[in-house]
Amino acid sequence: MDQGDAPLLDALIDYRKSKRYGFTPPGHRQGRGVDERVLEVLGSQPFRDDVLASGGLDDRRTRNKYLKHAEDLMAEAVGAEVAWFSTCGSSASVKAAMLAVAGGSDGGLLVGRDSHKSIVAGLIFSGVQPRWITPRWDADRHISHPPSPEDVSAAWDKYPDAAGALVVSPSPYGTCTDLAGIAQVCHDRAKPLIVDEAWGAHLPFHEDLPTWAMDAGADVCVVSVHKMGAGFEQLSGVSF
Ligand SMILES: Cc1ncc(COP(=O)(O)O)c(C=O)c1O
Repeated sequence: MDQGDAPLLDALIDYRKSKRYGFTPPGHRQGRGVDERVLEVLGSQPFRDDVLASGGLDDRRTRNKYLKHAEDLMAEAVGAEVAWFSTCGSSASVKAAMLAVAGGSDGGLLVGRDSHKSIVAGLIFSGVQPRWITPRWDADRHISHPPSPEDVSAAWDKYPDAAGALVVSPSPYGTCTDLAGIAQVCHDRAKPLIVDEAWGAHLPFHEDLPTWAMDAGADVCVVSVHKMGAGFEQLSGVSF
C-alpha cells in the first residue's frame, strides 16, 4: 500500500468537482440551509465537506471502498491486522472493545482502577463486572502509573475466569507501562489484552517514543486520533 494515498480526500475532491447532490443527511444540504450568522463565523466550506461516508462520498453499498481503503492504510501504518475509524471518540470505541471481549461473559474483565470514565460507563452499560487492578502510586511525583505485568498477573491469579484485561497506557499523567510484559502475562493464560491508548496516537510514529499497543502484542487497541493525532474532534480508531 502507498501510505501517501488519501482515499477519502480524493473522494471529497471528486464529490466537489462533480457537484453532486445527495438525498441523505446532513439536513443542512451542504450549507444551503445554514443560518447566515453561522456561515459568517464558520464559512461555508465545513458544510460543503460534511458528507456521509456511505450514501454520500461513496454509494450506499460502499462499492468504491474509500473508507475501507483509508482504514486499511491505518492498519498497515500501525501494524494491526484490522483498523476501524469511529466517531463519538474513544468513549464509543472503548465500549465496543469491552463488549467484543467481555460482553455476555460471567467472569468479568480485569480493569485498571485508573480507567477513564468512558470505561466505567462501558461497565455500567454492558453489565460486565470489573475486576479492579490497582495502579502504582508514585509517592515522589504524586501521580499514579498504570499497572505493571506483575499487578496484572496477580489479578489473573485472583480472577482466572475474567474474559480479558484492559489497561490504560499512556496514563492520564502521560506515563506508559510495560505493555509487552502485560500482553505476555495475558497470553500465557490465553486471554486477550485491550489497551486504552487514547493518548497514544503518536506512539507508532517515532522510534524514541514508548512502544505502542499493537507492537507490544496487545489484541485490541483503542486510540483517540483527535487527541495526539491530527484528526477532527471525536475521531477515534480501534485496531486489532
Ligand atoms: C484514557 C482515556 N480513555 C478514553 C477516553 C475517551 O476518549 P474520547 O475523548 O476520544 O472519547 C479518554 C478521554 O479523555 C481518556 O483520557
